Amino acid sequence: MSPLDPLSSALADLDTLEATGLDAFGQARDAGSVEAARIEFLGLKQGRVKAAQDRLKSLEPVAKRAYGQRFNAVKQALEAACDAAKVQAARPAVVSSEAIDVTLPGHRPRLGHRHPLSQTADELIDLFGRFGFVVARGPEVEDVHHNFEALNIPPTHPARDPLDNFYISDRAMLRSQTSPVQIRVMERQPPPVRVIAIGRVYRPDTVDATHSFMFHQVEGLMVDRGVTMADLKTVLRLFAESYLGRDVQIRFRPSFFPFTEPSVEVDMLWHGGDRWVEMGGAGMVDPNVFRAVGYDPDEVTGFAFGLGIERLCMRRHAIDDIRLLYQNDTRFLGQF
Ligand code: FA5
Repeated sequence: MSPLDPLSSALADLDTLEATGLDAFGQARDAGSVEAARIEFLGLKQGRVKAAQDRLKSLEPVAKRAYGQRFNAVKQALEAACDAAKVQAARPAVVSSEAIDVTLPGHRPRLGHRHPLSQTADELIDLFGRFGFVVARGPEVEDVHHNFEALNIPPTHPARDPLDNFYISDRAMLRSQTSPVQIRVMERQPPPVRVIAIGRVYRPDTVDATHSFMFHQVEGLMVDRGVTMADLKTVLRLFAESYLGRDVQIRFRPSFFPFTEPSVEVDMLWHGGDRWVEMGGAGMVDPNVFRAVGYDPDEVTGFAFGLGIERLCMRRHAIDDIRLLYQNDTRFLGQF
């Protein structure tokens, strides 16, 4: 390779000067490094641009013109890069990289909320609380004694059929109703009693629009001297009007439960207005139940009821299918 002539070599040095200078200003992020680059390249006494200018003197007249033109262009480019770097360094760092406009309206975070069944349970606790009922609890895995025997349901009763219950063993089962909580409360405390119990119950029922194999009940029990069927009907009517609205229509039908005598079934007119749907069972506590827990049926009387919470929730919100309550579809749940 032949050595370059003086002009070619000087022009090549100008190219290098331009490239390294632009790079230095481009890298400079803050005022301090911009100033350091300015001194290195554009410093009036010892800057590299000044040195390049001085080289002009050593060139032949023809070479001088070519070099001078190129030199001017390089000098202007570096001065412009220096100005741009100063402006850039003066801006707040965050604006220079990722711009955030704090005046824009924010995104409201989407909050979750309680499931409609939990909301219903909360409201039931509140409403019955106003009638003086306090909350009691019992286990979901229940023994056969509390689920059946103490409730006056003998071994031969069809309600105990293995095909109609989820037995875990001979003596244990998933409770089929919340009525065993009545027994547990009366075993624990003497009269007077005024409790509600809310929770899951399990039955191998065929699933349809108003039936599920797991659902929730609210049980009520009031025991005192002189409690009558009129009290029962008043409490249930007041409750239905409070929860479902003044215009709700309910009706009582004579029925049978082994643990109440007399017994009724309570229906509500469904939201379409064209049919009655059973809301729950109720009645006056059977004397045999009182005897099983050591209460004296000659001293006290009482009423009990057990209502289906899903159906109350469905009637309240005009929900047509119980399965919607278990599918966890946020398009459905978001409406409550
Ligand atoms: C009982 O469970 C009695 N323990 C109620 C009772 C309590 C009577 C205290 C007397 C004294 P029943 O099987 O009818 O009763 O159920 C009560 C309510 O639970 C029904 O009216 C209905 O609203 C609801 N229910 C029953 N089966 C289902 C099911 N498979 N899916 C959803 N809800 C149901």
